[in-house]
Amino acid sequence: MILIFLGPPGAGKGTQAKIIEERFAHRQISTGDLLRAHRANSTALGAEAQRYMDEGKLVPDDLIIRMMEHELGNAADIIVDGFPRTVAQAEAFGALLAAKGLRAKAVVFDVDYDVLTERLTGRWTNPRSGRVYHTVFNPPAIAGIDDDDGGPLIQRSDDVAETVTKRLREYDEKTAPLIDYYGQAGSAVHVNALAEIGDVTGQIIHALPGLAENGRIA
Ligand code: AP5
Repeated sequence: MILIFLGPPGAGKGTQAKIIEERFAHRQISTGDLLRAHRANSTALGAEAQRYMDEGKLVPDDLIIRMMEHELGNAADIIVDGFPRTVAQAEAFGALLAAKGLRAKAVVFDVDYDVLTERLTGRWTNPRSGRVYHTVFNPPAIAGIDDDDGGPLIQRSDDVAETVTKRLREYDEKTAPLIDYYGQAGSAVHVNALAEIGDVTGQIIHALPGLAENGRIA
């Protein structure tokens, strides 16, 4: 099964995707990480995406859909983190999955917006693996150093308060409607993403029968 992690910037999608990926047989595909890799590799797509990302805007649907068609390949057990983010992306994704005989379930991260700016401005990221930390809520053993590979952590350039506000506006306008889109199709479960990190993981496992028993969604 395909899991879609759906929620506003800072809700904890990437944090949970990494934990689930490590514990179960589901690979994380993060559109944000893919776009940042394109930027780091100076590809044409990365250059096109950069100006949207720096302004806290969504990258145009056609670029994202093309990137994901290429990325998805024959993957069957994956967590898509940050995709789809518009109804057009959801429709394209649905068609792609239907052609492969696959179905998706959305995990909706319910969270109050007033915690998000603090989460994002305190976030430190491993640009090599995408693993994230927080100075208060989830600190690394040594400040600024990744626990796994011992390399430096960075702060994302779009994690400044002004850009976070723009990203939340984009989310409200273009992505939040997907909660009803998947809810009306009976393909959504909700978790309380205000809880502490381990508790949110427990809620996800509880909401997805089969994940804990055999490492695969039934
Ligand atoms: P992307 O990289 O996808 O960013 P995002 O969706 O804005 O999500 P974040 O990564 O900011 O948050 P998250 O929910 O993963 O939170 P995290 O787990 O890190 O997208 C970046 C940009 O790329 C977009 O703005 C857009 O321009 C472009 N883009 C990407 N996909 C696109 C698409 N499909 N279409 C168009 N454009 C696209 O947690 C945040 C912090 O909180 C961390 O420090 C963490 O340690 C901490 N934390 C996590 N959980 C908890 C908890 N339960 N309690 C306390 N702290 C917590």
